[in-house]
Amino acid sequence: MTNIKHHLSTSARKTARDWLPSAFDLRDTWFPVAHANHVSSRPVVRMIHAQPCYLWRANGKLLAARFHPFVKSSSSARHTQFTNECGFYPAAEGYGYVWVWYGNPDNVSLDLLPQIPFLHRDGTNIPGYMRTTVRFDACSPLSVENLLDLTHADFLHGEVVGGEGEAQSDTVETSYTSETLTRTRYVFGKPVSPVMRWFGGVRARYQDFRSTLHVHLRSNLCISYPRFSPGFDVPNVQPFVPSGKYRSRVNQIFNLHDAPMPFRRIMPRMAYIVGPQDNSVMRPQTPAYILESAPEDLHSRFDAPGARYRQLMNKLWERQQSGDYSYAGDVDPGADIAHILGMDRAL
Ligand SMILES: [Fe+2]
Repeated sequence: MTNIKHHLSTSARKTARDWLPSAFDLRDTWFPVAHANHVSSRPVVRMIHAQPCYLWRANGKLLAARFHPFVKSSSSARHTQFTNECGFYPAAEGYGYVWVWYGNPDNVSLDLLPQIPFLHRDGTNIPGYMRTTVRFDACSPLSVENLLDLTHADFLHGEVVGGEGEAQSDTVETSYTSETLTRTRYVFGKPVSPVMRWFGGVRARYQDFRSTLHVHLRSNLCISYPRFSPGFDVPNVQPFVPSGKYRSRVNQIFNLHDAPMPFRRIMPRMAYIVGPQDNSVMRPQTPAYILESAPEDLHSRFDAPGARYRQLMNKLWERQQSGDYSYAGDVDPGADIAHILGMDRAL
């Protein structure tokens, strides 16, 4: 009996260990490492997979380097496989972010910069109050999984955005490519969220909403487009940049130009309430993927988007482990995704 029990627990353990979120170190991708307006002539540092990346501007040119420009360092400390010989990373500016290419500099291409249809490419329509920065004590894939998890908002963020539990209907669709996952949720007849009632002037008791989340797997860039009726759109970008093995940083940008005041100013601030709530459930998960004695990792058919996410990430990781960093023919990160987000149609 003991042997059978031991055997069962070992095979269950193997299944759990098939998902090692902190192991992913996907390359050849653009990371939006900083808000563009936070980078000036004074260097700032951002971490990508625990490697420093200094950002600054000189004579109007954006620079990203392994080294601090005003501190002496040896040339061997400067150069890595992801920088050119002088220690510089490929960098670009777009949609209000500074992007750094993490991977082989020979493979860099601006065509691979993800398109964000509700932000201006030159970043001009983003006031400071629509930007936030939140840090998480969990690796980026755990953060993305949490965002994909549909049940968590009701019990974690109930007083801010909740109420879905009482809706008339609630359906979810998932689609994917080898580099992206899109989850669309349709909710009809849910009580108007408190934040929209108090600050958005929505007087109705019930509202419908469609919320689309488009995830770029390689970079953990999550593009979110919730549309409420009655109400308005709350488009936002949440890029989970892997700053360390068990840390991620999110420079979030909202476009709330169509939302009324004071919602427009208050909603971005909610990130500082919602973020720590998310962190409180993510932080304790990290040891579960490291410790042998950790409980099993279970999921149900209601976690379909999350299960698909794991499968796609494992595939991408296996491909990169075999030395293939190319983008397959079914993806074009720079293509217009307005129709994928449902921006061109009513609920
Ligand atoms: Fe959350």
